[in-house]
Formats: sequence, C-alpha cells, structure tokens
Amino acid sequence: MPSSGTTTKPKSENKSSSENPSCIRRFKTLDLAMKRNHYRQDALIEVLHQAQETFGYLEEEVLVYIARGLKLPLSRVYGVATFYHLFSLKPQGEHTCVVCLGTTCYVKGANALLEAIEQEIGIHSGETTADRKVSLMTARCIGACGIAPATVIDGHVHGKQTPESLMATMQDCLGNRE
Ligand code: FES
Repeated sequence: MPSSGTTTKPKSENKSSSENPSCIRRFKTLDLAMKRNHYRQDALIEVLHQAQETFGYLEEEVLVYIARGLKLPLSRVYGVATFYHLFSLKPQGEHTCVVCLGTTCYVKGANALLEAIEQEIGIHSGETTADRKVSLMTARCIGACGIAPATVIDGHVHGKQTPESLMATMQDCLGNRE
C-alpha cells in the first residue's frame, strides 16, 4: 500500500504548504480518495478530480503524490492532468466556472454561455480575474450530455443552462461566499 492510513508526507521544497495543518488535512483527503479506489491506476481521473476539488489546482507536489500513491509514472499523471481542460496546474480564482464545449453542449448553445460569461466577468477561457475571484475554463465533455448545455461551478454540475441561468448561478455563488 503506497500511502496507507497514515499520511506519507509529500516531499516538497515548499515547506509552507506541506507542513501547514490544512494542507496535511487535504493530503489525508487525497489518501482517502486513493484508498476508496483501492489504489487502482484506472481511478486516476477520479483521484485527480478529488485532488483538484481539495487543493483548488494540481500543483506539482500533488501530482507527484498521486503518481506515488497509484504507482504510475509521473509522466502519465502529468499527461492526463494536462489533457483535460477541467484540470488546472495553476492556482485558480476563489471560484471556478467551467463551460462544457463538447459536441452535445456546443449544439445546444454552449458557445452563447461562454460568450455571456466572458462578457460579464471580462476574461477569456483559461484566465482568472485580476481580483482572483473567478477562473473561467472550458472542457471537452464533462459526462453530463443528457442535461446539455452543462457547466461546472465550484465543482457542482449545472445542466440545461441558459446565459441567464448561468449568470444567476454565478451571482448566487459570488454572493453566498462573501
Ligand atoms: S458534451 Fe457537454 S457534457 Fe458532454
């Protein structure tokens, strides 16, 4: 078992992150996600999802930790993390908005969603607002084609979105947190 119940302290030059109690808790959450999946290598995407949800983005030490835990080459973990637009290797804003531009969503008007949100918050896909409040991303398919067009806001999937409903959800989300 690579990381068992006790947290294997990730090797990092960045002491401030890995020795911080909240960071240790997050690595424990990551341990649990890998354990729940029996350290199966084919659970990589699910584990990466959990990691992104827990850490906000996939920093190098997190990818190294997952590679060790699932006994995968780091190159494979990097490959998957960089292939899917849903994953980010850079720090994100406090809130994230992912607009799915997969075929089904696109046919059902995802482009209008993207244009509306880009106009509203003044950034393009792949960017974070200057105040670091919101990061905007696109994905190829988030596996929710049945409720297309779909978005993922702060990790929650929203289906059958219109530009109006997307704006309302974003405003809700920005208003609720601060
Ligand atoms: S194409 Fe958007 S969820 Fe599949």
